[in-house]
Amino acid sequence: MRSHIGPPGVIAPQITRVEPVCGTMSRMKPFLKWAGNKYQIIERIVAVLPPGTRLIEPFVGSGAVFLNTDYPHYILADANPDLINLYQQLKRGGQAFIEQCCAYFTPENNTTGAFYSLRMKFNLTTDRTEKAALFVYLNKHCYNGLCRYNAGGAYNVPFGRYAKPYFPAREMMAFLARAGRASFQHATFVETMQQAQVGDVVYCDPPYVPLSSTAKFTSYSATAFGAAEQAQLAAQAESLLARGIPVVISNHDTEVTRTVYQNASQQHYFPVQRFISCNGKNRNKVNEMLAVYR
Ligand SMILES: C[S@@+](CC[C@H](N)C(=O)[O-])C[C@H]1O[C@@H](n2cnc3c(N)ncnc32)[C@H](O)[C@@H]1O
Repeated sequence: MRSHIGPPGVIAPQITRVEPVCGTMSRMKPFLKWAGNKYQIIERIVAVLPPGTRLIEPFVGSGAVFLNTDYPHYILADANPDLINLYQQLKRGGQAFIEQCCAYFTPENNTTGAFYSLRMKFNLTTDRTEKAALFVYLNKHCYNGLCRYNAGGAYNVPFGRYAKPYFPAREMMAFLARAGRASFQHATFVETMQQAQVGDVVYCDPPYVPLSSTAKFTSYSATAFGAAEQAQLAAQAESLLARGIPVVISNHDTEVTRTVYQNASQQHYFPVQRFISCNGKNRNKVNEMLAVYR
């Protein structure tokens, strides 16, 4: 039976009561800047995630949900190989790897020349540990923490010009402390969801659909995640639900997502405090959706 918090076409009034994350635990912040990360709305997501023996995240990104839930086991996957390599190196190398990352955070490396030289080193190196450490450096020194590649697969985000980029030692240690329960996998969402078993819970946070109804999916990002992929994700969720495996999907609240996820048991809508600039002048308040299949 489908139920909505707020009727379709109408944005639900803001729910003022926010559930605590994992009892009394305070929010844990991801150590990477990541577009679309769910740190700000983590309470909303945790509130609709059912208990289970393992949480599967096919679109793990910065791991905001992993860090703020308490499942015995996790499969954390993403299509970005550099991101997954970083998590694998952190889990394997521990504190020594964190120190290797920290060594790049010097005033000498916070210059235009050093940034482009280290960016080139990142693109050329075949040393997986060095590449992972440089990924942390680039994430904190590049423009807006973006992660973007050219057609040839080279990372190409420009220098960010920050006065003193923050090295997230404490956040990396917190991630490391939990990494023992997680398997980090470089995979597409279909490959990841195929691994789900009864007892698992699946949380999906795909790239957002475009906000404007006239915008094309294909113009949303270079690594196209278009209408076909959104429909494929909904179909995967429906087939896992048929096997008794609950799935929660995040996205913008748009007509497209209300339709794509129409077979979800529940759709929750809520406003967020974040603003996304669509054309540099108009800043539109964005509404978020959680589609729950359970
Ligand atoms: C909105 S972000 C996830 C944010 C994450 N929940 C967080 O809190 O940081 C979407 C992620 O999907 C990944 N992605 C894009 N296409 C994918 C695909 N086909 N399969 C798996 N992951 C994909 C991107 O690399 C990105 O990390």
